Amino acid sequence: MSGLAARLREETRDTHMRAERAGIMPDFLRGQIERRTYARLLRNLHGVYDALEPAMQRHALSPFIAPFVHPGLWRRDALEADAAFFGGAEWRALPLEPAAQELADRLNASGDPEVVSAHAYVRYMGDLSGGQALRGVVRRIFTLPDDHGVAFYTFPAIPDFGAFKTAFRASLDALPVTDGGDAIVAEALESFAAHERLFEQLATPR
Ligand code: HEM
Repeated sequence: MSGLAARLREETRDTHMRAERAGIMPDFLRGQIERRTYARLLRNLHGVYDALEPAMQRHALSPFIAPFVHPGLWRRDALEADAAFFGGAEWRALPLEPAAQELADRLNASGDPEVVSAHAYVRYMGDLSGGQALRGVVRRIFTLPDDHGVAFYTFPAIPDFGAFKTAFRASLDALPVTDGGDAIVAEALESFAAHERLFEQLATPR
């Protein structure tokens, strides 16, 4: 593997590890998270996708975004369903943490499809990778019947995650970057750092 996909994987490795270990994450992975905290996580992720997905739609014709527009990826409806399942009808009133607001602001302000593509990489490749381990954790913690509450981790329109991720990486490598991918890598690093802060902010009860 060479090119932008390899750069992203290698250059975000450290920040990925920091995000995995930040704030609520270690306890979450060990199966220890309160229902309300999990609802807060979902509410905040909804805030991020609620900026990411419209930004992708705005730039759908851009060569930086078109390869990643796949209706089976959209997570907003799934997050709404899960947030309502765990947080009840009032889930939207749960606070948006500063780091989630910051991510949303970056995406809302961005007229630059390259910036948006970096966030698509961080979120969707993450959801299709580590997110799949979290699905099992969530089902165990809350002893969920069937697939209730885990719509966020469920991609019915993507039958083969391995093949999908291989194609996603090939699309990253084919992006018409003029800087070797520096801008996308830099924005992906910003996104991971904001996620790290988000997990820390969620560790404070609210
Ligand atoms: C919290 C626990 C997490 C675990 C256990 C975890 C685990 C993993 C694993 C095992 C992979 C490699 C899968 C593969 O090669 O196909 C991966 C990839 C990835 N994860 Fe995570 N992850 C976590 C959190 C996150 C978070 C919070 C984000 C983003 C905010 C994220 C974004 C990514 C991305 C973008 C990749 C793809 C890397 C690449 O191949 O380019 N992960 N994760």
